[in-house]
Amino acid sequence: MEKRRLGRSELEVTTIGLGCWVIGGWMWGGAEDDQSVAAIKAALDRGCNFIDTAPVYGMGHSEEVVGRALEGRRDQVVLATKCGLVWDERGGRKHFVDSEGRTIYTNLSAESVKQECEESLRRLRTDVIDLYQCHWPDPGVPHEETMTALAELRDEGKIRAIGVSNYSAEMMAECLEYVQLASLQPQYNMLDRSIEAGLLPFCREHDIGIIAYSPLARGLLTGKVTMDREFGEGDHRAKRPWFRPENRRRVLEFLDKIKPIAEKHDATLAQLAANWVIRQEGVTTAICGARRPDQAEENMGAADFELTDDDLAAIRRHLDELGDPE
Ligand SMILES: NC(=O)c1ccc[n+]([C@@H]2O[C@H](COP(=O)([O-])OP(=O)(O)OC[C@H]3O[C@@H](n4cnc5c(N)ncnc54)[C@H](OP(=O)(O)O)[C@@H]3O)[C@@H](O)[C@H]2O)c1
Repeated sequence: MEKRRLGRSELEVTTIGLGCWVIGGWMWGGAEDDQSVAAIKAALDRGCNFIDTAPVYGMGHSEEVVGRALEGRRDQVVLATKCGLVWDERGGRKHFVDSEGRTIYTNLSAESVKQECEESLRRLRTDVIDLYQCHWPDPGVPHEETMTALAELRDEGKIRAIGVSNYSAEMMAECLEYVQLASLQPQYNMLDRSIEAGLLPFCREHDIGIIAYSPLARGLLTGKVTMDREFGEGDHRAKRPWFRPENRRRVLEFLDKIKPIAEKHDATLAQLAANWVIRQEGVTTAICGARRPDQAEENMGAADFELTDDDLAAIRRHLDELGDPE
């Protein structure tokens, strides 16, 4: 699979990566570990070299499963995890309360970040994290404190590169006063193009890689979330606007319109959705979630073809017609 350099870092990542949120089970109605391990191995077998996880994905569980799956294959992978969302006595600024009543806090203090790094290294069964990302901004801690702590971790050899996620351009500009950022991880997919207005141009201008998250719009763009699909207890998608029945119907109609483009390339809708993301200028990689090996295999196939300019223009026309969720 094609590899691209992540910003100005030395990391080279495949254009399709594997996102491991669902593997933690949390907010996705659970996950089956053996299937998760098989999904990770299937992605690597299919040429993927980039894996993204976070401590909060299952309160350490996703990282542990990733560590287990990478046993003996660690050197084949650019491994990314995150810091800054904590759920225990460390506390911080309240971020939200999950469906189990657990409070999630933002905490990017130097002390917490360094402690989190040690915990992630242990769960991931590795001695270095290739890309360490601030998961969400923490309004209670100056960027200088966080970035200085991350630079120290890099100097100690515990992490290789520094990234951020869900940050604004203003926040990144401030971070750049202290460190070079390898990447921003924002949401970007056909149904959410909001980064095109400011973040994407900012990252291109400053040579910051873009790791697009939820490229399949959490499964909706695969076409397999039909009108009769129901989401179980603890699956956050039930409450997302595009998943509501009237909006879901509109997305399915949109997918019918772009299906001929997928068929022309011998691709599935999931592959079309992810390929569209990596064809946007400034995007380095799209991290697709997968809970089973067949999903991982299908998603990795998204890098196997190239959309034409006409295809891209046609998709944009249909997207403009689709508009926003009601
Ligand atoms: N930094 C952040 O704040 C942030 C936020 C969100 C995500 N992320 C990262 O981005 C990654 C990907 O985003 P995401 O997991 O939110 O959404 P996504 O990749 O758009 O969708 C993943 C979900 O779609 C379904 N799916 C995947 N492949 C499929 C296929 N081939 N056919 C049918 N269904 C398929 C699966 O759910 P079902 O089988 O249950 O339908 C899967 O869990 C995450 O794992 C995480 O690493 C980061």
